[in-house]
Amino acid sequence: MSHAVIGASSASKALAHSNIALAKYWGKRDLARNLPDVPSLSMTLAALCTVTSVRFDPEASADHFVLNGSAQLPSASAKVYALLDRVRQRAGIEQRAVVESSNDFPTASGLASSASGFAALALAATAAAGLQLTSAELSELARSASVSAGRSIHGGFVALEAGAESAEVLEVGPLAKELVMVVAVTDPGPKAVGSTSAMQLTQQSSPYYSSFREHAPAAYREVRAALLASDLERLGAAMEHSTLLMHACMLAAQPPLLYWSGATVSALRCVQELRRAGTIAFFTIDAGPHVKVLTRASDSPRVSAALQSVPGVQRLIVSGVGGPARQLEAP
Ligand code: DP6
Repeated sequence: MSHAVIGASSASKALAHSNIALAKYWGKRDLARNLPDVPSLSMTLAALCTVTSVRFDPEASADHFVLNGSAQLPSASAKVYALLDRVRQRAGIEQRAVVESSNDFPTASGLASSASGFAALALAATAAAGLQLTSAELSELARSASVSAGRSIHGGFVALEAGAESAEVLEVGPLAKELVMVVAVTDPGPKAVGSTSAMQLTQQSSPYYSSFREHAPAAYREVRAALLASDLERLGAAMEHSTLLMHACMLAAQPPLLYWSGATVSALRCVQELRRAGTIAFFTIDAGPHVKVLTRASDSPRVSAALQSVPGVQRLIVSGVGGPARQLEAP
């Protein structure tokens, strides 16, 4: 292994986009290695991003993590420190780091802040340590912290197979360029359970987890095939099925995991109404109360206007397909 030489200016800054799974990952095949139990497929979102800077500091006695301007306690930073440890080990360095990260969207609310966050951290930390990793190696490093982050290293549409170490960019049809996600940020319900512990609870206690695990690969294959065939109706139906398979198995966890608020259900009904009236739009929901609606860019004004009038929808973010994680000019 070649050891990196760390000088006084061992700092780097990176940006990564969030991603939303069209075919959901939920559950781990290997907890210690953080390997997913089912395949997943995501769209990288241009409009949601995290910017993270990392500085290895010879004077620092401990790692420091600052998120959206607030210093985080060590107990809330374990995954950040663990990723830094992997980078230090790989680069053969000892210095502690100062990590500053900010999201341009609500953190830890089911808008995939851990996906963009750990992808940006993986890129900034390796660059600051003087390492040059391939995108597959970066995806593996980000995935080891948070599975969905392995997908945010890449742009476009991204697949991560069950048990896989890293994600890969997918070949897609011409429809992919026209797609947008309209994110309806809703009133939060009760405080959300973080996805890592929620999926462990589901695996341990939901009688439907084995059924989710059995059916998730077919939903994934259907999403993937529809994307390649540029068939939005087929893609949307498979995405909604994957979403509801996941939420059905979460609901049956003990205690139950119900991420939906009243506004979530109202937004979901609004999408069904839009479809009945001839607008091609489909919903997905993650580990939070927000509803994300997949549609063509040409239909997004109509979708946005309808969602805007749903009680409890606080704001809308319309996003096209985003690019890969990238380095920014160092601070
Ligand atoms: C519902 O990737 O946040 O968004 O690997 O434990 O960090 P960890 O979980 P995480 O889970 C994401 C779950 C999801 C579906 C998805 O993005 O595939």
